[in-house]
Amino acid sequence: MDTMNCNLSAVLFDEGTIQKRIRELGAELSTEYTHKNPILVCILKGAVTFMTDLMRHMTIPLEIDFMSISSYGESTISSGVVKIRKDIDSDIADRHILIIEDIVDSGLSLHYLKEYLIKHKPASVKTCVLLDKPTAHKVPVDIEYKGFEIENEFVVGYGLDYAEKYRNLPYIGILKEEVYI
Ligand code: PRP
Repeated sequence: MDTMNCNLSAVLFDEGTIQKRIRELGAELSTEYTHKNPILVCILKGAVTFMTDLMRHMTIPLEIDFMSISSYGESTISSGVVKIRKDIDSDIADRHILIIEDIVDSGLSLHYLKEYLIKHKPASVKTCVLLDKPTAHKVPVDIEYKGFEIENEFVVGYGLDYAEKYRNLPYIGILKEEVYI
């Protein structure tokens, strides 16, 4: 067992399971967005792996862009204030926008992102997330496309990190509590 694996208590989704679900999502999105030339907005950094796999299973013309937002501190959790580190480069007015996230936890990031993007008057804004933790939501969020629902556990791999590590695992695992407590 390597040093990354031994810090996991379990593998939650193996590589084959993730890829199968992404193929399904890619097919569904290809149908939904036919003739819409959507812009996929990847929220850095966690969603990079998911978006690069997902877009290769979409068989329609599309564009990509990236946003980076800061994590909120404990004091801003109630307000949901998020700082933009990198904004989109595209003009999204009248365009169909698909936010690509790796995980929705409290939902504060997604709530903020949707509100922010809507101000640019796009034709539509929908969200595609790989993992959703419904029991952790602190604000109501609409998630039109999702890979899997999970319990309130600390997951890493396939883009998701703990202290910037584990993003390169091709599967998603549960981090042992002793690693982060
Ligand atoms: C993670 C994840 C989402 C956000 C979800 O990003 O990628 O953007 O947290 O949490 P929320 O629903 O409670 O708002 P993180 O800040 O860890 O940055 P990273 O993607 O660079 O790892």
